[in-house]
Amino acid sequence: MTTTTNTFTEPGSDALAERARDHLWMHFTRHSAYYDGSGHVPVIVRGEGAYVWDDQGKRYLDGLAGLFVVQAGHGRKELAAAAAKQMEELAFFPVWSYAHPRAIELAERLAGHAPGDLNRVFFTTGGGEAVESAWKLAKQYFKLTGKPTKHKVISRNVAYHGTPQGALSVTGIPSAKVPFEPLVPGGIKVPNTNFYRAPEEYRHDEKAFGLWAAERVREAIEFEGPDSVAAVFIEPVQNSGGCFPPPPGYLERVREICDEYDVLLVADETITAFGRIGDMFAMNRYGVTPDIITCAKGMTSGYAPMGAMIASDRLFEPFRHGTNTFLHGYTWGGHPVGAAVALANLDLFEREGIIDHVLDNEGAFRRTLEKLSDLPIVGDVRGAGYFYAVELVKDKTSRETFTEDEAERLLRGFLSRALFEAGLYCRADDRGEPVIQVSPPLIADQQHFDEIEGILRNVLTEAWALL
Ligand SMILES: Cc1ncc(COP(=O)(O)O)c(C=O)c1O
Repeated sequence: MTTTTNTFTEPGSDALAERARDHLWMHFTRHSAYYDGSGHVPVIVRGEGAYVWDDQGKRYLDGLAGLFVVQAGHGRKELAAAAAKQMEELAFFPVWSYAHPRAIELAERLAGHAPGDLNRVFFTTGGGEAVESAWKLAKQYFKLTGKPTKHKVISRNVAYHGTPQGALSVTGIPSAKVPFEPLVPGGIKVPNTNFYRAPEEYRHDEKAFGLWAAERVREAIEFEGPDSVAAVFIEPVQNSGGCFPPPPGYLERVREICDEYDVLLVADETITAFGRIGDMFAMNRYGVTPDIITCAKGMTSGYAPMGAMIASDRLFEPFRHGTNTFLHGYTWGGHPVGAAVALANLDLFEREGIIDHVLDNEGAFRRTLEKLSDLPIVGDVRGAGYFYAVELVKDKTSRETFTEDEAERLLRGFLSRALFEAGLYCRADDRGEPVIQVSPPLIADQQHFDEIEGILRNVLTEAWALL
């Protein structure tokens, strides 16, 4: 399985890369690549705006905003200053039966941006913990409200929801799960909304495809038994597999189905929140109110770790009374420094009109990437906001994809290295069909879009010639 595809650079003699190879256990990384002489660890040392620099002084366009994180761009001194100020004032205090001003202010502010009555904010340090928290809340909520057998979760094929063992059960990528089985039981999978790979009869009708996909959620609830199903987890735009937007009507229909069976709808907005899709929360843009939102990444633009589960008033209600307690928490949840940075980041969003910038430029981003459709290797260009994937195919007409070996050679053997060497940091991924994903900082504009398109065009043209 390729997750974050190893990025190779030519073997070099720089000491940092060698020390990384010898002591740093990199995440989702095939380490053999750094020992067999084929490459060394790329070391990124600084960032400014939409660019980062490596330890050799070479500049790269950060086409992935770090890891769908750096919304405001690199090198923002005001975010660093907010962290320093908070560290001096109160570096740490937990939110375990106590509170501190920054956690209170941030909870209130997030509730203000969240749709409907999602007013209760439970802080975590990342997306996987937020997903874990949401599943645990769903289980306990139903135990407290007279439906104790509701515990399963439905999620979608190829979707990534994090690495804790519960979140991994929610995840729909078999190869990421196998080494750790048995996982938490009760993770049920349904089809995702990859319209390009829709069943033949729906390929020309996106709305009908969306309704078909939503009906698969109903089918799974019925099959498992509504009394056993607690929640449906959905990313508004699914990342893994390559940026699948929701077909028109899909989210609305899933919401109706959840209501019908008293199943909670959890929108995992770990990537899609904080402007990525042109709103603070993508669910606002799509006009559907979930019961829970999970979010992280862009909340601080990556200047500090921070995540959250935002729950509706209804889900908090059983915990307002008596001895009921959500027996769950994290030492770092609601960390004062993370919260201060998140508040400063949201201030920056407002001051600079970051979301309006995305709305003003998302069309140009799409149009620029769509120019790549004239290449024989490009089957599909899809996504929303500042979140896009280019699916690579062997045959455009038949949509034939690459074999596992070919994908391995194409992605790991060539594309990752070639794109990086050409000055573009992005993601080449084959957790679904092979895709290149681009998701730049939200300050990016036409100049950056052109640079992304230009590098992709050259490297993909070269890749095709090598096939
Ligand atoms: C949709 C989604 N959920 C959960 C996670 C896990 O987040 P984290 O790595 O912060 O635990 C990710 C990470 O990319 C994600 O994209």
